[in-house]
Amino acid sequence: MVKETEHSDINTKGIAVIGLGFIGLPLALSYSMRGANVIGIDVIPELIDEINQGISHHLEQYNNLTIRDILKEQLTAKRFIATSNYYEASQQVDTYIVTVGIPIKDGVPNYTYIDSACNSIAKVLKEGDTVIIRSTVIPGTTEGRIAPLLQMKSGLIPGQDFYLAYASERIAEGRAFVEFESMPIALGGINEESAKRAKEILTIVTKAEVTISSIKTVETAKVIENIQRDVNIAMVQEFARFAQAFDIDTQELIKVANTHTRVNLLTPGPGVGGYCLPNAFYYLEPRAESLGVSLDLLRTARNINDGVPSAIVDRLEQALGTIHGKKIAVLGLAMKDYSNDDRISPPIDIVNILLSKGAKVFAYDPAVITTYDFKYPSLYDCVQDADALMLLTMQEEFRYLDWAEVISKLAEQAAIFDAKNIISLEMLTDGIKLLRI
Ligand SMILES: NC(=O)c1ccc[n+]([C@@H]2O[C@H](COP(=O)([O-])OP(=O)(O)OC[C@H]3O[C@@H](n4cnc5c(N)ncnc54)[C@H](O)[C@@H]3O)[C@@H](O)[C@H]2O)c1
Repeated sequence: MVKETEHSDINTKGIAVIGLGFIGLPLALSYSMRGANVIGIDVIPELIDEINQGISHHLEQYNNLTIRDILKEQLTAKRFIATSNYYEASQQVDTYIVTVGIPIKDGVPNYTYIDSACNSIAKVLKEGDTVIIRSTVIPGTTEGRIAPLLQMKSGLIPGQDFYLAYASERIAEGRAFVEFESMPIALGGINEESAKRAKEILTIVTKAEVTISSIKTVETAKVIENIQRDVNIAMVQEFARFAQAFDIDTQELIKVANTHTRVNLLTPGPGVGGYCLPNAFYYLEPRAESLGVSLDLLRTARNINDGVPSAIVDRLEQALGTIHGKKIAVLGLAMKDYSNDDRISPPIDIVNILLSKGAKVFAYDPAVITTYDFKYPSLYDCVQDADALMLLTMQEEFRYLDWAEVISKLAEQAAIFDAKNIISLEMLTDGIKLLRI
């Protein structure tokens, strides 16, 4: 349990966190753990019911407590409750923190959810309230879209009648509680007073530096922070392809290059997934287009990363001769290691390509809760007599597997694609081929 902030430090009547997803729920609990009165708002009734029963499927932890433990503790202490009723919440809060996203579909941003959340806030907004946007947005959204929307619906003027600020959210799923506290925050206010007020709210949770800049700068910085990672990953994917063609080991190549004190190459994986990195380019692109700026390098990097799942299936196909009719065991469906998040997940893309080529896919992931026709509850049923095994993302359970035993269940002449460098040559039996990135 964190030391509760002195009550006098909590300079707010109550905080509504809008959107109770991967960011919103742990953020809401981070405030209530420190003594603030928090109401979480979401539009999914089943999610509200689950949360109010103390259930969360996220894998976040803090001080050896799971997010479920923390949630139950805060519900019992009556410092946190979830609702879908903006009006009821508005009677108990003077601060709104927005964590509703802008999904990308076919490269196009969908503003429906964030617009709807801001409309709902505007209907209940009172003079003197504070609105802090923490969602990742197309640069220019807070001042060009959200401020006018809030003003039009509420009749209140941002910066004059209520405070409005943008503070990007930079935490990584799986480390949310710790990083809400330790990750430096970039903040922009619609005016100086708004930035000052938002900083007071943010520092209830964060112990890290809060840097104040213009809203446009902070919105853009968030997007390019993610894009630089996307580009770096695309670069190592190309290095990996070169290494394969040149018959040298990619991991060793990167390790050697990284002995240079000014080089820090990332490790290539089965593709780039999740809500943040693959979407980032599509947040910058519309603004760049309207400004007449070309983003050729960034687009190329995005295309390279988008193409990784199909390049991986091609390699497996070469090793097997054909994919059609083969039983393929896929371990790990999450978008990254040790995650339950399967949104924009390269393993799911890989499975879909395999299915489109006529494979029989048997996938296993103990953390992902989504049901799929190709997902099974037993790892051993998946690998039994499989023609190929693909280890794509890690879960705790995979760390402790007896891999020699798993491999012994595969068909003779099976191929293994190990994206995680867990399986060593010594574990293989005769006839089994090992492919790595
Ligand atoms: N997930 C990450 O690791 C991460 C990291 C940094 C920043 N971000 C950004 O944070 C934001 C949230 O991401 P997330 O992963 O938590 O998304 P999420 O999809 O898990 O959560 C968003 C929640 O908002 C809810 N919602 C939709 N419309 C609503 C409305 N009108 N009112 C109230 N709730 C509504 C949805 O039901 C959902 O539960 C995004 O902008 C994302 O880019 C995410």
